[in-house]
Amino acid sequence: MIQPSRRAILAGLPALAAVAMARPAFAQAPAATGPFTLPPLPYAANANEPHIDAQTMELHHGRHHQAFVTTLNNLAREHTQLASLSVPDLLSKLNEMPEGIRTALRNNAGGHANHSMFWTIMGGRGGAPTGEVAEAITRDLGGFDKMKTDFNAAGVGRFGSGWVFVTAARDGKLSLSTRPNQDSPLMDGQRVLLGNDVWEHAYYLKYQNRRPDYLNAWWNVVNWERVAERYAAAKAGTLGV
Ligand SMILES: [Fe+2]
Repeated sequence: MIQPSRRAILAGLPALAAVAMARPAFAQAPAATGPFTLPPLPYAANANEPHIDAQTMELHHGRHHQAFVTTLNNLAREHTQLASLSVPDLLSKLNEMPEGIRTALRNNAGGHANHSMFWTIMGGRGGAPTGEVAEAITRDLGGFDKMKTDFNAAGVGRFGSGWVFVTAARDGKLSLSTRPNQDSPLMDGQRVLLGNDVWEHAYYLKYQNRRPDYLNAWWNVVNWERVAERYAAAKAGTLGV
């Protein structure tokens, strides 16, 4: 199950419909009806314990992410042209979308893209990156320790809700950035190597107001193999969300 799911993520969201039937039973929200589909978690909800608890994962994936998908499908019923666009295209062409739904698309397509990325890069055992990703982090972000320090500081400093990202350009260059709400680097045509969700729904059950503790702990569940695949895909121009 993991292999097709991973390929679908790397290829882009429309392909995820092919694996929708494999969605775990814990995702309690009703199945989406439309062109947008909730991707299944590629691991059990408790795979990130003790750093991220299973209940948070279930609610975050099955309720919060599902809500973005449901809203997108509702929008697509009235605006059928949405079904023909990939999520990255949809986000990079927001200005070409009907003005009346532009904000809703920004929030919900952004949320769909961000969370679809997010699930794929967790479920690992942390540690340190290796190979080309490690070399790029050293070259562009001052090394792994500095990257984590800067990333965590950006996450703590993001007022309210939002995300912290490391983006990867086609030439392999990495950059650190933070975005409010569900904004995505895809809106600027960029590609995300990895990112962390600093909305309270991502951590409040276990960490309450201790966002810094959550940011520190999150590195323990990063799956660097998936991140390495994303880096290769970003450089090849084949990375979807
Ligand atoms: Fe979230």
